[in-house]
Amino acid sequence: MSLPSLLLVGCGKMGGSLWQGWLEQGLAPSVILDRSCAAPPQPHHLARTASEIPSGFRPDIIILAVKPAGMEEALASLHPFLDSTIVISMLAARTIESLRAACDGARAKIVRAMPNTPAAIGKGVTGVVSQDLDEEERTLCTDLLSAVGDVAWVESEAQLEALTPISGCGPAYVFLLAELLEKEALRVGLPPETARLIARGTVAGAGALIAASDEESATLRKNVTSPNGVTAKALDVLMAPDAWPSAMTKAVDQAMARAKEMAS
Ligand SMILES: NC(=O)c1ccc[n+]([C@@H]2O[C@H](COP(=O)([O-])OP(=O)(O)OC[C@H]3O[C@@H](n4cnc5c(N)ncnc54)[C@H](OP(=O)(O)O)[C@@H]3O)[C@@H](O)[C@H]2O)c1
Repeated sequence: MSLPSLLLVGCGKMGGSLWQGWLEQGLAPSVILDRSCAAPPQPHHLARTASEIPSGFRPDIIILAVKPAGMEEALASLHPFLDSTIVISMLAARTIESLRAACDGARAKIVRAMPNTPAAIGKGVTGVVSQDLDEEERTLCTDLLSAVGDVAWVESEAQLEALTPISGCGPAYVFLLAELLEKEALRVGLPPETARLIARGTVAGAGALIAASDEESATLRKNVTSPNGVTAKALDVLMAPDAWPSAMTKAVDQAMARAKEMAS
C-alpha cells in the first residue's frame, strides 16, 4: 500500500524524522518545502519556497513541521493549497483555533498531532486530535501516522496538551537516562567504549523488552529486583518520594506550563 502524497512543510529534526519513516514505507510522489534541507530522492521534489512547488501538485495531506513561531508565515505562503485540504500540524503549543486563524479564511481540515522522534525508525508515538474529519479522512491520517509508529487519537486539545510532555518530550528523558548511566559507568572506572556500550545497550534492551512484553512496567522492574538485593538498594534511592517520582512530576508540570506560555 502506498502512503498518501504529502506536502511536508519543514524538514528539520521532527519533519526529517517523519519523512525518513514515511519514505521507507513508500510515499506517493510528494513535495518537501524547506529552505535548507537536502533534496529527497525521485519521484519526490524539494521546494525552497512555496513558489517552487510544482504547478498542479495537490497533496492529499499537508504536514506542518516548522517551529511554532513560523506557523503564520508558512500557512500564509500555502494559502492556495489550503481549501478542503487536510493540514496536520505537528507544532507544539499551537491551538487549532490559532491554526484556523492563520489559514485566513481558507477552509482547511485541521488536525493537531504530537509525534516523537523515534518515528524515524518506525517506533514513534503520535497523539492526534481533530473535529474536522470524516471517517475516511480519519483513516487516511491513521494510515499515514501509523506507518511511523503507534497512533493515539484523543478527544480534546486538553488531552493532546497533556500527552505532549510525556510522549513528545519523553525520548529526551530516556536519552538523558542513557547519558547519566554512561557518566556513572565512567565514574566507577569502566573504559569509555565499554561505558558507552553498556549504557546505550541497557536503555535499548530495556525498551525492546517493554515493547515485546505484555507485563506492566512495574512488573518488569520488580522482575529485576530481588528483595534487599543490589538493584533494590539503587531503587530505594531513585524511588524515594523526593527523588525520581517528584522530579518527574515537576518536569512534566514545567513542560506543560512552558507549552501554555508558548501558546499564549
Ligand atoms: N523535535 C521534537 O522532538 C518534536 C516533537 C514533537 C513536535 N515537534 C514540533 O515539530 C516542529 C518542528 O521542530 P524541529 O525541531 O523539527 O524544527 P527545525 O529542526 O527547526 O525544522 C524546521 C525546518 O523548517 C524550515 N522552515 C521553517 N519555516 C519555513 C518556511 N516558511 N519555508 C521553508 N522552510 C521553512 C527550517 O528552515 P530554517 O532553519 O532555515 O528556518 C527548518 O529546516 C516544532 O513546531 C515542534 O514543536 C518537535
